[in-house]
Amino acid sequence: MTPFIFALATIAAATLVYRVIKFITRPSLPLPPGPKPWPIVGNFPHMGPVPHHSLAALARVHGPLLYLRLGFVNVVVAASATVAEQFLKIHDSNFSSRPPNAGAKYIAYNYQDMVFAPYGPRWRLLRKLTSVHLFSGKALDEFRHLRETFRREEVGRLTRNLARSEAKAVNLGQMLNVCTTNALARVLIGRRVFKDGDGGCDPRADEFKDMVVELMVLAGVFNVGDFIPSLEWLDLQGVQSKMKKLHKRFDAFLTSIIHDHDTSSISFLSILLSLQNVKDDDGNRLTHTEIKALLLNMFTAGTDTSSSTVEWAVAELIRNPRIMAQVQQELDAVVGRDRSVKEEDLAHLPYLQAVIKETFRLHPSTPLSLPRVSAESCEIFGYHIPKGSTLLVNVWAIARDPKEWTDPLDFKPERFLPGGEKADVDIRGNDFEVIPFGAGRRICAGLSLGLRMVQLLTATLAHSFDWGLESGLNPEKMNMDEAYGLTLQRAEPLSVHPRPRLAPHVYSMSP
Ligand code: HEM
Repeated sequence: MTPFIFALATIAAATLVYRVIKFITRPSLPLPPGPKPWPIVGNFPHMGPVPHHSLAALARVHGPLLYLRLGFVNVVVAASATVAEQFLKIHDSNFSSRPPNAGAKYIAYNYQDMVFAPYGPRWRLLRKLTSVHLFSGKALDEFRHLRETFRREEVGRLTRNLARSEAKAVNLGQMLNVCTTNALARVLIGRRVFKDGDGGCDPRADEFKDMVVELMVLAGVFNVGDFIPSLEWLDLQGVQSKMKKLHKRFDAFLTSIIHDHDTSSISFLSILLSLQNVKDDDGNRLTHTEIKALLLNMFTAGTDTSSSTVEWAVAELIRNPRIMAQVQQELDAVVGRDRSVKEEDLAHLPYLQAVIKETFRLHPSTPLSLPRVSAESCEIFGYHIPKGSTLLVNVWAIARDPKEWTDPLDFKPERFLPGGEKADVDIRGNDFEVIPFGAGRRICAGLSLGLRMVQLLTATLAHSFDWGLESGLNPEKMNMDEAYGLTLQRAEPLSVHPRPRLAPHVYSMSP
C-alpha cells in the first residue's frame, strides 16, 4: 500500500469511527421545542427589538421551555415558574456560571468582577467578602449610622428638593438616581459622590446615570461576536468599541474614588483595602483590580435597578388613584403626618409591601435576569439540555403568565394580601412565580439592601406628596412603555408635580 493510499484509508477510517461514536453517543432525548433556526445566524432574527417580549411570544407558541440557536450557541429559555424552578433550584449547581460575553471582557475587567466571575473559589471569595462585610446583619449593624444617615440625609434631601420644586415639573427618575447612588456610595466608600442643588442635580450625576444606562443597554444587546466567535473581531454592531470607551470612563471614576479615599473612614472600600494582603482559606488574595471591579458591580448593579423600580412604583400609584389613596391612608395611620417614614415602620405597612411586590412583578428591573451557562449536559422535563447552553430566565414573562395570575396585566397589590391568590408568595427567590432578584446560588447579592431602598423610598414619596402629571395629563393615559436594555427603563421618564401633604416642618428639617 502506498503512503498516499494509507493516509486516505486512515482518514476514511477515522471519519467512520467518529461518525459511529457520534451516532452511539447522540442524546437519546430531543432538544426542547423552538422556532426553526436560519443557517449560520440561527434564531437571531427571532429576538426582535425587545427580546423579553419576543421570547414571551415564542413561548406562547412553543411552550415554556424553549430552545434556540444563536449563532453557534445553544440557548434555552425558561418562561414559566415550574421551568425556572427546574433550572434555578433542582439544577442550580449545573447553571451557576455566566456564559462568556463581551461585557465581562471589555467592561468588567476581563471577568475579574463578581457578577461575571466563573463559579469557583474566586467567585466564592468575592461573594463571601460582600456578604460578610457589606450585606450581613453584622455589617449592616456596623453601617447602621450610615444607613440612618441615608434616611435622614439622602431621603431627607430628596423630599426637600421635591418640596421646593413648586410649579416646575421634576424628572423623578433622575432625582431618585442621585439619591440611590449617594446612599450606596456612603456605605461603599464612606461619602456621597454627587451634589444635589435646588434642582436636585449635579451634571456629573447625570453623566454617571447615563454611563450606567449605557452599560445596561450595551449589556442587553445580543452581541453577534458572543455567539459567532469567528466574527468577534468585526464587531458588527459596534458594541465592543463602545464597551471599551465606556470602560475607560468607569475606570477613571473608580480610580479617582480609590485615590481620594480616606482609609480611616468606615466603609466597605476601607475594609477591602485592608484585606488586600490577607489570604483566604483557599489561598486567594484580593487584587487592586478586583476591588475596582467589585465597586463597579455595586455601583452599576445597585443604583439604576433600585431607582427605576421606585419610578415604576410611583407611576403605577399615580395611574391608580384608589391604590395611592389606600397606601397614603395606611401611612397616615402608622406614621402620622408629623414625621417622615423610618425603616422600622416598613414592617407595619403590609399594603405598601404588597404594592412593592406588585411593582416588581410587572416591572422587574432585569427582565431576562442575568444569563447562566450549563457546566454539563442535563435532562429537564424529558428534554436534552446540551453542555455549554446559555440559560435565559424570562422573569418578565413568568410574572405575567396567565396560568399563574388572574388579570396578569392589571396592577392589583391585593393579590399579595391575606385572602389574595398569592398571599404567601415572597419575592426573594423562593417562589418562582415572581423572581425579580433571580434565585439559587447566583441570586442578587444586594437583595436585602435593594429591597429596603425601594421600600423606604416608595413609602416616603407616597407619604410626603400628592402627585400630579406634567401639564395636567390624564393619569389613565400615561405612557407605560418600556425602553429595553439589560434593565427595564421607562421609555418616557416620569415628569411630575409633587405637592407636599405633611406638616411643613417635616420638609425643613436640616440634614
Ligand atoms: C431593585 C433592586 C435590584 C434588583 C431587581 C436586582 C436584580 C438582580 C438579578 C436578577 C440578578 C441575577 C441573579 C441570578 O443570576 O439569578 C442580580 C445579581 C446581582 N446583583 Fe442585583 N438587583 C438589585 C439590586 C442590587 C444591589 C443594591 C446590589 C449591590 C449593591 C446588587 C448587586 C448584585 C450583584 C453583585 C449580582 C451578581 C451576583 C452573582 O453573580 O453572584 N443588586 N441582581
